[in-house]
Amino acid sequence: MSKLAIEGGEAVRKRPLPGGKKVGKEELKELVDVIDSGHLYRHGGTKVIQFEKAFAQLHGVSHAVASNSGTSSIHVGIAMVNPSPGDEIITCPVTDLGSILPIVFHNCIPIFADLNPETYNADIESIKANITPKTKAIMPIHLFGNPSDMDPIVDISKRKGIPIIEDCSQAHLALYKGKKVGTLGDIGCFSLQQSKHMTTGAGGVTITDNRDYGERGSFFMDKGQHQDWQWPRKYGDIALNYHMNELSGAVALAQVKKVQDVVNRRRKNGEMLTSLLDGVPNIKPQKVLPDCHGSYWLYGLTVNPDAPFTASQFVKAYTAEGLPASPSYIGKPIFMCSIAISEQKTFGDSSHPWDHPNARKGIKYTEGLCPKTEDMLNRMVTLPMAEWYGEEEVKDMAAALRKVATQYKV
Ligand SMILES: Cc1ncc(COP(=O)(O)O)c(C=O)c1O
Repeated sequence: MSKLAIEGGEAVRKRPLPGGKKVGKEELKELVDVIDSGHLYRHGGTKVIQFEKAFAQLHGVSHAVASNSGTSSIHVGIAMVNPSPGDEIITCPVTDLGSILPIVFHNCIPIFADLNPETYNADIESIKANITPKTKAIMPIHLFGNPSDMDPIVDISKRKGIPIIEDCSQAHLALYKGKKVGTLGDIGCFSLQQSKHMTTGAGGVTITDNRDYGERGSFFMDKGQHQDWQWPRKYGDIALNYHMNELSGAVALAQVKKVQDVVNRRRKNGEMLTSLLDGVPNIKPQKVLPDCHGSYWLYGLTVNPDAPFTASQFVKAYTAEGLPASPSYIGKPIFMCSIAISEQKTFGDSSHPWDHPNARKGIKYTEGLCPKTEDMLNRMVTLPMAEWYGEEEVKDMAAALRKVATQYKV
């Protein structure tokens, strides 16, 4: 094999990975309709409603509630379940803070299951160990587009009567045993932020096949307003304004027609890369469960504990081969990334909701709470993945990973 680039050899890749654009004339056409109509607000418009119908149909469910971010979509999902202050929601410690903040703003307590260091998704035994009489929802997060092991989670949910809210923000159209994520539990939440498989710049959507959840979600997105209560004004539940506007709705409507193709391309790339890495020493790709297919928002791998390099050292040597990579994703479990959560300093000088009379006492978020997750993050490397990469790019990635993993010793 040729000399490593970090040691003065020739790099595997001589030119940057290609860039691409997710939006084009299809979005522009829908946007022109909205501008021509002069009507940008959801109510009275057509695009957001059409998008909701198309997204629900794509997932084979009865309800979709569009909103203005993935964070809002998760808040809408929590509101559908309608927990009380001090209730607990079990979720995952590696994610964007947008998964966790809606729990706290809904006066509920986030409880973190440790992760399976191979799949990077919730460890089933840890979910079980964290269930208390106060658990009101389980929120698996399909990290980097890799479907969580849903059968045992659905089993726990059925036995205990605890609903499942799936965070599918990074996992559009990922498949668990032939079923789309977001439809395996009770509620599915999606981000439409710029980097996601389909995007409106910022946006979100929550799906459910449960009529009561669907109705509560659409009121919650709309300040608690029931649209058939026109006058005098009447508001039901306490709620916020999470409307998607018609400009975003227009883009979302065009994007929903493209998302399957985007996911197919990313899946082809991701699965090809994994097969090309077969037998490479010292590193291990994120494990996809049998009969499952990820949507590859990022491509994750871990450096083996006994490898002759750390994740950061591996990234340095790999990027010298002319390809991008990052060590450790978010660096620490998400509760350690947020001062408000780790120090429980929230509203004014309170530590609400942890100080609520209904809350279980003594919940703390400290290093060591999720040991497998901490170890996994220290060993994790992420590679960007894109629908505009082709075979050439994937082969270069595989060649550079193989070269560095095989030869590098620090
Ligand atoms: C797993 C996950 N959950 C929630 C969110 C929050 O979504 P948004 O940034 O659209 O509010 C993100 C966004 O990055 C995410 O990746």
